[in-house]
Amino acid sequence: MELIKKGRVGLITGGARGIGYAAARNLAGEGASLALVDINGDRVKESARKLSEETGAAAIGIAADISFESDVQRMVREATDRFGRIDLFLNSAAILADNLFLESTPEQWDRMLKVCLYGPMLCLRNILPGMVERKYGRVVCMASDSARYGQSRLSYYAAAKAGVIGLVKSIAQEVGGAGITMNIIAPGATNTELRQEREESMRTSMGEEKYQRRVQTVLRMYPTRRLGEPEVDEVLREIRLALLEADVNFKVVKNFTNAVKERALGADVIGLNCSTGFGLSAAGLSLQLPDSSRRIEPVRVE
Ligand SMILES: NC(=O)c1ccc[n+]([C@@H]2O[C@H](COP(=O)([O-])OP(=O)(O)OC[C@H]3O[C@@H](n4cnc5c(N)ncnc54)[C@H](O)[C@@H]3O)[C@@H](O)[C@H]2O)c1
Repeated sequence: MELIKKGRVGLITGGARGIGYAAARNLAGEGASLALVDINGDRVKESARKLSEETGAAAIGIAADISFESDVQRMVREATDRFGRIDLFLNSAAILADNLFLESTPEQWDRMLKVCLYGPMLCLRNILPGMVERKYGRVVCMASDSARYGQSRLSYYAAAKAGVIGLVKSIAQEVGGAGITMNIIAPGATNTELRQEREESMRTSMGEEKYQRRVQTVLRMYPTRRLGEPEVDEVLREIRLALLEADVNFKVVKNFTNAVKERALGADVIGLNCSTGFGLSAAGLSLQLPDSSRRIEPVRVE
């Protein structure tokens, strides 16, 4: 099956690095042209240059803060001026916080909600009209397992990401008839710079011994006993699936067991290190586990 019709145009926020950049490489390999957007202007331009050099794809880097409407409008304008339209949209931009709720401040919540919830809202408000007009669009917004299970020290990040899940599932119902699929991907811990930065600050504040105990506890949460790796992992496969193939119907596979089953409650689909909540697709409700070989083995969480 041809995964992507050549010439698709993708816009990826948070495309300078991490999962966003890994997804960009993947889509570039399938013949997509890409607009990478990031608040880190120098890095995103460098990433776009590297992407073109390594894959031969047409790519531009756009400096923009997705929490500002004027930036988002300019980002859409620059991408459409260059490539004519946006077919695929991935919202990967985010910030993280590591803070107890009772020690956090309204100013910190405000920035979090602006970037992680209001940002994707602004992007969708500005990108979807063109997709509706052309009757084609594939959208993925990154959420987080913390939004579905809750996670200590990530309360307002989790709250913003839970908002994204509700947002995407709702809008999906409004635009599904116009040939647009909207999906949410909620990775487990993935070894990107975002995570590495948070881990480094935890190591410093906890001390080495306590930190190593924490590392083991985290690993035990995952059936594979390892972190996701952005370049090679199923997070990437899920993004690729949702952006390139989400008009295909898949079966719901429920083979959750033991602790994994507990973690999977409320999940539409769970993979080894990543769960995916699918909204409505143009083809109807699609709850999907594309690769049924991805069996989840029983795991004991201590
Ligand atoms: N890494 C993980 O363990 C993990 C787990 C669950 C969910 N996620 C989600 O996956 C997505 C990608 O995460 P990642 O680990 O690749 O992160 P990352 O920090 O490596 O990449 C995020 C990018 O977003 C950019 N960014 C931040 N604020 C922005 C803004 N206001 N406007 C534009 N760009 C902005 C950053 O500069 C950065 O380049 C995020 O939405 C994150 O919440 C990651």
